[in-house]
This record gives sequence, C-alpha cells and structure tokens, in this order.
Amino acid sequence: MTEARSNPVGSRKQFLGGLWRSLAVLVAAIMAPSAARARIPVTVVAPMQPWQSTEFEFEKDGRLLPGIAVRLPATNGGAGALYAACRICPHEGCTFALEREYDLVGSIVGQTLSNPVFLCRCHLSVYDPLRDGAVVSGPAKRPPWRFEIREESGSLEVLALEAGAEVIR
Ligand code: FES
Repeated sequence: MTEARSNPVGSRKQFLGGLWRSLAVLVAAIMAPSAARARIPVTVVAPMQPWQSTEFEFEKDGRLLPGIAVRLPATNGGAGALYAACRICPHEGCTFALEREYDLVGSIVGQTLSNPVFLCRCHLSVYDPLRDGAVVSGPAKRPPWRFEIREESGSLEVLALEAGAEVIR
C-alpha cells in the first residue's frame, strides 16, 4: 500500500514564503508616504437649495481644516453659485458656523441682517456669504479664507485653499 506523504520541508518553505510576502505587504502599507492617504481633492455632494450647506474637512500641510460650502440664492433665475470657505475664524481661529437665525444674530450684534451669515461665537464676528464673506460685525479684520472648488453633476470637488488658514491655529 502506498500513501501519499507530504514533504514537510517543502511545506515549511511555502509557509515561510507566504509569511514573508504578507509581512512585506504590511510593511509597505505602513511605510507608504502620507500623500497616499491624502484627502485631496475632497469630493462631497453639492448642496442644491438656497442656503443649504455641507461641511467637509480638507487636508493641508498634514492638518485637517474644516470647510463649508453654501448654495447662494440665484440672482437671475438660474442656480445660485456655491460659496466655499474655511470655517476657521480669521480673528483668533475658533470655528464658525452658518447661522440661519439671522434676525437673532442681528439683534445680538446690533445690525439689520437680511440673510443667513457665518457666526463665530467666540467674539461674535459675523461674515456675509452673499458678499464674499465680508465682515459684517465683530473684531475680525478679513473675510474667511476661500476654497477653490469645481462643481460637476451634483458633486462638489474641493481643490485648494487660499493661503493663511493653516497658520492661524
Ligand atoms: S475667534 Fe472668531 S471672533 Fe474671535
């Protein structure tokens, strides 16, 4: 009677070969440059209705920076433009948000507002997305930093960020 016998030396070699290949793949994944994991460009679903917004994070110089894209109301009957800005407040670096209760914000800062605004609650800086982020009120001296974006087929691609936001905090 003959019985097929496995070759223990060959099996050990195959096992070790597979183990080394697995280790090599693991080491390569760990050592891969961070650019391989970069989240640039960022693609999100574009907000379509007036004053609808979407928030995202954008990686720049190894840091994740908060962003927001807001659909502005149309001025000529067509779709309104998208305004995308970094949510880091240019004053001292807090994170601001879109505030739709603009009457309330206006009463707090002593201004008459007629549309949603960006409000930074740290020191009450207010920015107007309809006017390129112009400072409406507060200690901030400049508008929020803008994102370069591209819109296509309902998607919003965030391509780049104006210089400056990455150094304030
Ligand atoms: S940090 Fe935003 S108003 Fe001061």
